[in-house]
This record gives sequence, C-alpha cells and structure tokens, in this order.
Amino acid sequence: MGRSFFWDRIAKRYSKQPVGDEATYQKKLEVTREYFQPEMEVFEFGCGTGSTAIAHAPFVKHIQAIDISSNMIEIAKGKATTGNIENVTFSQSSVDEFNASDQTFDAVMGHSILHLLDNKEQAIAKVHKMLKPGGVFITSTACIGKPGILFKILSPIGKLLGLILRAFTEQELEDAMTGAGFVIDYKRQPSGKSKSLFMVAKKVE
Ligand SMILES: C[S@@+](CC[C@H](N)C(=O)[O-])C[C@H]1O[C@@H](n2cnc3c(N)ncnc32)[C@H](O)[C@@H]1O
Repeated sequence: MGRSFFWDRIAKRYSKQPVGDEATYQKKLEVTREYFQPEMEVFEFGCGTGSTAIAHAPFVKHIQAIDISSNMIEIAKGKATTGNIENVTFSQSSVDEFNASDQTFDAVMGHSILHLLDNKEQAIAKVHKMLKPGGVFITSTACIGKPGILFKILSPIGKLLGLILRAFTEQELEDAMTGAGFVIDYKRQPSGKSKSLFMVAKKVE
C-alpha cells in the first residue's frame, strides 16, 4: 500500500475542513510574512491542498509546493486557478524524491509534516542544504510530551495505512534543528486549541 494512500483518500474531505484554530493560523501566517520579501524563492513540502502557499503567494516571487498525494495536488491546483494565483507551482512528489540544487531557496515551509516522515533528521538536513545562507525553515509540528496509550494503539494502524506517525518532544525537534546547523529565530508554543509548535529556524550565514 503506497504512502500516499491515506492522504489521497482523505484529500477531498481535508480541503473542506475548516482550520481548527483560525486565530492561531492567522498569527502563524502573519509571523511567516514578516520573514518574506517580494524577491524570495520559497519551497513548501507536504503542502496539502495548498491553502498556506496560496495565502503567501502575493508576498513572494515564487513558491514551489509539493505533496506526496496527487489528489491533494489536484485540489491545490484548482484553488490556485480559481484564485488567479500564477506564482505557485504545485507538483506531486515526496520530500525524499524532491531534488533541488544547494542554496536554491530563501525560505522553506513544512507544516504538520515532520512527524509523518520516516526520518525527520534527514529531511531537516536536506532543507538546510537547499536553503541559501540566512534562509529560514518555517515549521509547525505536533509534538508530544511522551508517547501515550492512544499513540501506541494508533501508530501500528497508521503504519498499515501507509501513514507513519513519529512521536517526539519539542526539545527533540529543536535539537534536530540545531544539530543540522539552524538557530531558532522564533518559537511559538502550543496554545489554546492548537497543539503545534511553530518555529522559524534560520540557516547561519
Ligand atoms: C497533516 S497534512 C498537512 C497539510 C498542510 N501542510 C497543512 O498544514 O494543512 C500532511 C500532508 O503531508 C503530505 N505528506 C505525507 N508524507 C509526505 C512526504 N513524505 N512527502 C511529501 N508530502 C507528504 C500528505 O499527503 C498531506 O497532504
């Protein structure tokens, strides 16, 4: 069963779901925008149905957005067409398959994705290579204290669906970022309904 099976199946429903915590989502968009400049080349992986890339498109030069699920990408392309957004390129690819030359991007986004990867360290190192010096990696990640009983039950079911679930703490995520050569420039702890750690990690110049 392919990795994208689960996401392909839920893509339509996912696109219709309202954002869980609108105020937090808007705050994350606002903070992200403070890092953007009109001449920037941006990459997003695990872009889902493209809402975040489309929201940021007017503030940068170009966004290359990928997702492993072709159904997610199809919906994202439709949204871009409807919104007359021409500077986002959506394509189907897993982050492991995606290749970019070193120091290509000014900013990379990965939201609600790192905990789904086999090897987050490998992905973070890859992002670090593709960023220009001084570039930023902007992430939002569900982190946990320690694996609870629910996680232990759900994890094997998730694996069967081609959905890897990794449990790590905020500290482990931060260590993975600094270990790859990033410095943490901004951090917003989970608050209210949002259970995600939002972080901006900067590649040292
Ligand atoms: C929880 S959704 C998050 C979507 C979007 N970033 C958001 O914040 O709403 C995770 C997305 O990651 C995609 N995905 C999962 N594994 C992936 C991989 N290895 N490479 C690229 N995309 C992946 C899924 O297809 C799905 O669209």
